[in-house]
Amino acid sequence: MRRYLAHDTAPLQLWWTDLDTMPPPPGAEATLSADERARAARFVREVHRRRFTAAHVALRELLAQHTGRAAAELQFTGGPFGKPALRGQPTCAFNMSHSDELAVYAVAAHGDIGVDVERLREMPDTDMLARHNFTPAEQDQLGRAPASARALTFLYGWTRKEACLKAIGCGLQVDPYTFEVGLGPDRRDVSVVSPDGPVMVEVESFCDGDRAVVSWARVKPALPEPTHSA
Ligand SMILES: CC(C)(COP(=O)(O)OP(=O)(O)OC[C@H]1O[C@@H](n2cnc3c(N)ncnc32)[C@H](O)[C@@H]1OP(=O)(O)O)[C@@H](O)C(=O)NCCC(=O)NCCS
Repeated sequence: MRRYLAHDTAPLQLWWTDLDTMPPPPGAEATLSADERARAARFVREVHRRRFTAAHVALRELLAQHTGRAAAELQFTGGPFGKPALRGQPTCAFNMSHSDELAVYAVAAHGDIGVDVERLREMPDTDMLARHNFTPAEQDQLGRAPASARALTFLYGWTRKEACLKAIGCGLQVDPYTFEVGLGPDRRDVSVVSPDGPVMVEVESFCDGDRAVVSWARVKPALPEPTHSA
């Protein structure tokens, strides 16, 4: 597991691992819960089973370092829309994402955080996906991108939206079309109307060489109510 050091100014740590070339040590599967092993066993293809297992072993190793607990002792709970959290560890927030053999992890002492990774690849269907998920301004921005930068531009937008939704934890309960993240790597605050009301989410992205696009997001703490003097 390696840390993305270029993003030291982010309010969270970002880590990555290659699930094919940096596999877990022999026997490390034993740290997984019965639920994780059952999920792994449901994959039809061996490559997917192996990568899922490696991703979850690496997640446990990382969270064990952050909490000082043994990897096998860690217990996960799921939010209403499936966002995993650590049971009994209020000072360790995390989120993970995988794309093919690449897994990326975000860890922070607290807060609602999200991360998304997508392998850079040929994408013939960006127009259709953008029509359904990008705002009119974002669709316009994508339309102006040169052909050589189209997939990258699209994936900035896609991973930024996904990271915001993962930070909130609501999945596709919020329509990605309804909030604007832009299609570049810049750090910005994004207003999202979540199922629990409006929230402000900080998001930033970067390109990992010619390999992948990564976005992280964090729900900004609500400002205290103003006090009115008589
Ligand atoms: C499930 C979802 C949270 C992410 O799915 P994804 O992008 O396919 O998968 P990723 O690899 O990025 O993330 C999966 C991990 O996120 C975590 N996760 C699961 N549910 C989550 C939720 N509600 N919120 C945050 N994180 C969640 C889990 O750790 C999961 O790993 P696991 O399956 O190995 O346990 C959800 O947002 C989704 O279904 N997205 C569909 C894609 C889409 O249409 N996006 C539109 C963007 S414009």
